[in-house]
Amino acid sequence: SITPVILSGGSGSRLWPMSRAGYPKQFLPLAGDSSMLQATVQRVSGKGFAAPLLICNEEHRFIVAEQLRQIASEPDAIMLEPVGRNTAPAVAIAALHVSKQAPDTLLLVLPSDHVIQDVAAFHQAIEQAAQAAQQGALVTFGITPSAPETGYGYIQHNDAWEGLESVHRVARFVEKPDEATAKHYLEEGNYLWNSGIFLFTAKAYLEELEKTHPEMVQAAQGALVNSQDDLTFCRLDAEAFAASPSDSIDYAVMEKTRNAAVVPVEMGWSDLGAWSALWDIQPKDGNGNASHGDVLLHNTRNSYVHADHGMVAITGLDDVIVVSTDDAVLVANRHSAQDVKKLVEKLKAEG
Ligand code: GDD
Ligand code: MG
Repeated sequence: SITPVILSGGSGSRLWPMSRAGYPKQFLPLAGDSSMLQATVQRVSGKGFAAPLLICNEEHRFIVAEQLRQIASEPDAIMLEPVGRNTAPAVAIAALHVSKQAPDTLLLVLPSDHVIQDVAAFHQAIEQAAQAAQQGALVTFGITPSAPETGYGYIQHNDAWEGLESVHRVARFVEKPDEATAKHYLEEGNYLWNSGIFLFTAKAYLEELEKTHPEMVQAAQGALVNSQDDLTFCRLDAEAFAASPSDSIDYAVMEKTRNAAVVPVEMGWSDLGAWSALWDIQPKDGNGNASHGDVLLHNTRNSYVHADHGMVAITGLDDVIVVSTDDAVLVANRHSAQDVKKLVEKLKAEG
């Protein structure tokens, strides 16, 4: 069976003011009735999947435990990071944890902030990927790009993996290229977006990480050896973990490995990174507006309005994002949705 490894240590600052440091976006029900974390867990429970392994910041342990309880999910463990060191060390912790028992365990690494509309297609792709992963490949799931987005990894695919029709070798993996480069890739045509979901054996991942970042493997080992178990929580040793370099799995491993493979999949995937992405996926009225809560619109087009607290009324504006909560209101141009992160940085700097 496959062990889901669910990463939920991100801060989600581009979805401020709904997403807060103490309660980031993956814990919010932004795209349905359950939170994005719960939807992620539910997508990989049942036949073929072992109990999930969660990795989050220590600060969010009770939110994670409570959200799992609500959906009756019994995790293998909830690993607690004292500080964020990005995704490469987080995955190393998961890989080392399962390696104690079985280094050949297949790990399905999942971000907790994605929407996947076609779960059957996703499961089929996982089955195809598993065959290559068992042979030592680090498999990613590739999405047909629709725009020269700079927030994604780009995968140039090659011929098929021996004997497997739907799995391709990766010729090149480029994490977050600049816009000109991304445009060029789209014109070339044989590039896919990296969905950020990976499948590999614990052993294959650790071998690759050992080649590029031995200090990271060492720090993760230290953090586990001296960790403290507390019911389902596993508290990593703070000093050892903090000594790890910070890097994402994409830069640290996927750009460098020669064993990468990709399964192209159409599964209604979206990364809910910014408010504009919510506008993209949500049903709209005749004027192209998506709204949530108590909202009144007149002479307004192509806007996203989210009233979490009180009523929001707008007239005579196009392409805006308005999000109101009980203590903060965001007003932004829909095309500046990525810059909300800058606002949050400013907010932090000014205390
Ligand atoms: N445990 C833990 N610790 N989780 C983390 C940490 C950390 O320090 N940092 C981030 N995460 C979690 C986030 O919560 C998210 O679920 C996932 O890891 C991915 O991190 P992001 O920060 O959202 O990555 P990204 O969106 O910039 O880029 C990745 O995803 C894209 C697709 O959405 C890359 O894999 C890209 O190549 C990919 O295209
Ligand atoms: Mg993301």
